[in-house]
Amino acid sequence: MTNASADAAIVKLEDVHLSFGQTQVLKGIDLTINKGDAVSIIGPSGSGKSTILRCINALVQPQRGHITVDGTRVDQLSKESERITLRKRVGIVFQQYNLFPHLTVLDNIVLAPTRILGVERREAEKLARELLDKVRLAEKAGAYPGQLSGGQQQRVAIARALAMKPELVLFDEVTSALDPETVGEVLWVIRDLIRDGMTSILVTHEMRFAEEISDTVVFTENGRIVDHGSPEQIFHTSDNPRIRQFVGGLSGARGAVRDGEGI
Ligand SMILES: Nc1ncnc2c1ncn2[C@@H]1O[C@H](COP(=O)(O)OP(=O)(O)OP(=O)(O)O)[C@@H](O)[C@H]1O
Ligand SMILES: [Mg+2]
Repeated sequence: MTNASADAAIVKLEDVHLSFGQTQVLKGIDLTINKGDAVSIIGPSGSGKSTILRCINALVQPQRGHITVDGTRVDQLSKESERITLRKRVGIVFQQYNLFPHLTVLDNIVLAPTRILGVERREAEKLARELLDKVRLAEKAGAYPGQLSGGQQQRVAIARALAMKPELVLFDEVTSALDPETVGEVLWVIRDLIRDGMTSILVTHEMRFAEEISDTVVFTENGRIVDHGSPEQIFHTSDNPRIRQFVGGLSGARGAVRDGEGI
């Protein structure tokens, strides 16, 4: 059992410490994520959630601790070329989708596989169309980002990340900037991906969604993981007053909106 779970670990953070100048942002993070798992990171603003994702993707480097992603010691990467190799395998989707406004939806998705992976245009286009189908935007291949809603643009951004055939995907509050009526369609797409077995780490304020789709929920506060466990443990049976206050406050407010959308 111990060996099996060690083999299955695709991401492992051990005693990760990170400071920006004098500000200690991560104060000893330990986190193991197995292949095929969906892990949600929740916690108050400024607690270090985005920084954890940025560490995994080598966008920032910790001063102390180990980070391993599928056998690669990310904390030891010293060359930009090594970081780029890692980022081909780890997709990341942000709150701001940052599509190229002058390229069509299809070209936005085809760009990285052709330029970075050297995939032939025809093949990249075939995959892009399959992915657009998956994110339910097949009919928008020729549209420009400015012609799409926020939710549609975010789904294109997800398709763009998937076009690199990543081994895991990091989602950083991908619905936070969206109009409430388009949040549901993006969550549908992420839910499908997770059901298909994509290893996913999500920073989210959508408590109801995190409860539904996560294998593990991690609660961060002030640069530390205060608790982690099953959704049931974190959302319903935690005896930590801080967690109860946090999930109680959010799930009440957000849950009401989600109920109305029937997701
Ligand atoms: N590049 C940076 N330089 C200096 N301080 C930073 C930098 N990036 C993040 N921080 C600080 O690190 C702390 C953690 O930031 P982080 O973005 O990880 O929090 P978060 O939990 O994602 O918050 P939010 O829910 O608001 O997105 C914050 O106090 C933030 O101001
Ligand atoms: Mg953040």
